[in-house]
Amino acid sequence: MDTDVRSETPARIAIFDTTLRDGEQSPGCSMTAKQKLRFAHALTELGVDIVETGFPASSESELTACAAIVREVRGATLATLARCHVGDIEACARALEGAERPRIHVFISTSPLHRDHKLGLSKAEVLERAVMGVTLARRYAEDVEFSAEDALRTEPEFLADICSAALAAGARTLNIPDTVGYTTPGEIRALFEYLRANVKNADQAIFSAHCHDDLGLAVANSLAAIEGGARQVECTINGVGERAGNCALEELVMALEVRRAYFDAATGIHTERLVPTSRLLTRITGMNVQRNKAIVGANAFAHESGIHQHGMLKHRGTYEILLPESVGWAKSQMIMGRHSGRAALADRLRELGFALDETQLNQVFGRFKTLTEKKREVFDADLEALALGIDGRAIGGWRLSRLHVSTGIGDGILPTASVELCSPDGERVTEAATGDGPVHALFAALARGTRTHLDIESYQVSSVTTGEDAQGQASLTARVRSDEGVAEEVTGSATSTDILEASALAWLDIVNRVQRRRVPEAIADAAPVEALTAIG
Ligand code: KIV
Ligand code: ZN
Repeated sequence: MDTDVRSETPARIAIFDTTLRDGEQSPGCSMTAKQKLRFAHALTELGVDIVETGFPASSESELTACAAIVREVRGATLATLARCHVGDIEACARALEGAERPRIHVFISTSPLHRDHKLGLSKAEVLERAVMGVTLARRYAEDVEFSAEDALRTEPEFLADICSAALAAGARTLNIPDTVGYTTPGEIRALFEYLRANVKNADQAIFSAHCHDDLGLAVANSLAAIEGGARQVECTINGVGERAGNCALEELVMALEVRRAYFDAATGIHTERLVPTSRLLTRITGMNVQRNKAIVGANAFAHESGIHQHGMLKHRGTYEILLPESVGWAKSQMIMGRHSGRAALADRLRELGFALDETQLNQVFGRFKTLTEKKREVFDADLEALALGIDGRAIGGWRLSRLHVSTGIGDGILPTASVELCSPDGERVTEAATGDGPVHALFAALARGTRTHLDIESYQVSSVTTGEDAQGQASLTARVRSDEGVAEEVTGSATSTDILEASALAWLDIVNRVQRRRVPEAIADAAPVEALTAIG
């Protein structure tokens, strides 16, 4: 980062992302070198200031992965981690060779517990090693960061001494990790204030917070550290990291963004890249975020209760403090369910392309309420079926009549899918295709049958009930171009006890949804609500 983060107003907070180091070393998050490289590119597109690429001394392959990032990735400072050991620091130097903006990040434990039980070193010995580490690192890089591991359980006077010594030895950033997620907002804020008052030449240092989430306080503690004077925050996408994880980048950044006036601080993050970056990490690691996760969880902008939906329709600000688009979501999703009201149903149907009059809407609403007693969540496809007739045969939309998929493992076995579809005009279409796997073959057969190519961005199958007969819900997102040439994300979902059927229906859901948007009037005309009388 070129700007001086120590003196700006609003304060410029440097975002140091450690997904590829602290995140990657946690269970379920490991990545191949290729995946790390891909994710490092995504982080720079997101606008992070510093990417911590790894811990090169941990293995030769880790060093190679860090070096590959250095060769290709531009735009951010690239950091590597080292203990205050000669070998570690030399490995960092090798990994960073040729970097545009290299940073060596050295650390040593400072708390009495770590000094006595982990290192077996006195305070003086720890301080001496810290100075050695920073001095050696400075031979290889101008930009050196020093971390006092377990700082929040370290005597504040000793912490100030070791920070002063590291700064004098040439460190530029002083990182104060809450390694075990033990601190509280008030405490960490006071510690940063104390350090800024007691570290010698503190005005020449950038103080940094690195909070773990063991008590669920990592984001709150990082924000409090900013209030105490931190100008760099170390965090990870989706909050991944050791044990309960690290400070979640997306939450911290949006707290600063939404409460800009309160914190008087800003980051350089392109917030509309937050959701795509979070999704990319999920796809790479297979580690999903919980639905109700702030900012990037599937429910973060979903409104189900009738009162909330009604409020949202009147004014978004009633129940949303930030625009879903501002973090990269397509828009708010109204999940239709038991608590949804008539206004929300009318709105959703309008979006789906139905123009119903008052009487027709009342009829559909009655049917909708009956359906919600049987189904917990009602998807767009269900609403369309309600509005179209008992099975959607009345008009519009591709329907799946038959499906056969064969797959297996072994020489000469090729996953194959055949489908029989009913076209929007009622024509019977059969197609078959092979693929790399059963789902690939199935989507290829559907693409041939409907003559539609979908750029699938994400595909997820999850269980919506429990037990052997669990219903699988397939969710697909595709990038589709409108007639005006505008690219947008369209999501389709479907549920079935057969996950391949659910996947095929979700795929067709997208195709039908796109078509319906293009010809809403035709659909409204051709969908007489009398057809509803057939619903039992
Ligand atoms: O949590 C921690 O203390 C760390 C340091 C190595 C910065 O990850
Ligand atoms: Zn950590």
